[in-house]
Amino acid sequence: MKKPFMNFVVDHMTFLVEPRFYPVTYALFRIIFGLGDEDIIYNKRRKWPGENQEKSMTFAARLGRYEGKPGLDQSIIAVVQPSEPESQPSHVREMLKTRGGSAHWQHIALRTPDLISFHQYAAERGVNFITPILKDAEEDLIQVFSGEWKLPQMPPSGIFFEFVQRNPSKELLEKISSNREAFFRDKTFLGLYQEKEAEYQSKKVRPFIDDELFFEIEKSLAGKPIWELKSQDFRLVEEKMKDYARSNKATVQ
Ligand SMILES: [Fe+2]
Repeated sequence: MKKPFMNFVVDHMTFLVEPRFYPVTYALFRIIFGLGDEDIIYNKRRKWPGENQEKSMTFAARLGRYEGKPGLDQSIIAVVQPSEPESQPSHVREMLKTRGGSAHWQHIALRTPDLISFHQYAAERGVNFITPILKDAEEDLIQVFSGEWKLPQMPPSGIFFEFVQRNPSKELLEKISSNREAFFRDKTFLGLYQEKEAEYQSKKVRPFIDDELFFEIEKSLAGKPIWELKSQDFRLVEEKMKDYARSNKATVQ
């Protein structure tokens, strides 16, 4: 079952905090985790329309490194605050509000050695992605974001996955841009940010899998406890997922 592109390791995590908590979080990270300037991987600022001062939207902190290939050997937490003016909607603010206020783990980025293969594999099984494959020139990675991990007919959970591949080769980047199925945009953090904001404003937050597929899977599992589930059950579920993705694709086109 395990394919080479399914060798996932945690690449980074994204942490949402209340504006009041944001500078405190920064100070705590610097002090408690002993971070120097070189450990702040990025610090993105933005001036919102109608405001005269720049605000920090997000920073990424490298908490540590472990032995391994350079560049792939670090633990990173990206911290985000709702920097929008109060008069403006903010999906970050909304996620925090629905999760009890102060802080919220938003996404975990899993790194794969072959993002294209994984993306195709997952899409063929009905997994929803809210972006095409994006290229982050600054960080030299390609990334894609899943729908939210949520129950049917429930409010958004604010929790999703990012899948990344680091140090993509030139050939790979060319392959992606010429591949119609996995077209990509040369956007950074803002690509996800805008996509998420649009979802929250439209109140149409895509789930990891469609509700309909959720119900089908639930039905196939027939209320069995997980220790009773065997490989034949998973094969059946996987077939349902593939059927669903195929018929769904057919209706979309
Ligand atoms: Fe991320």
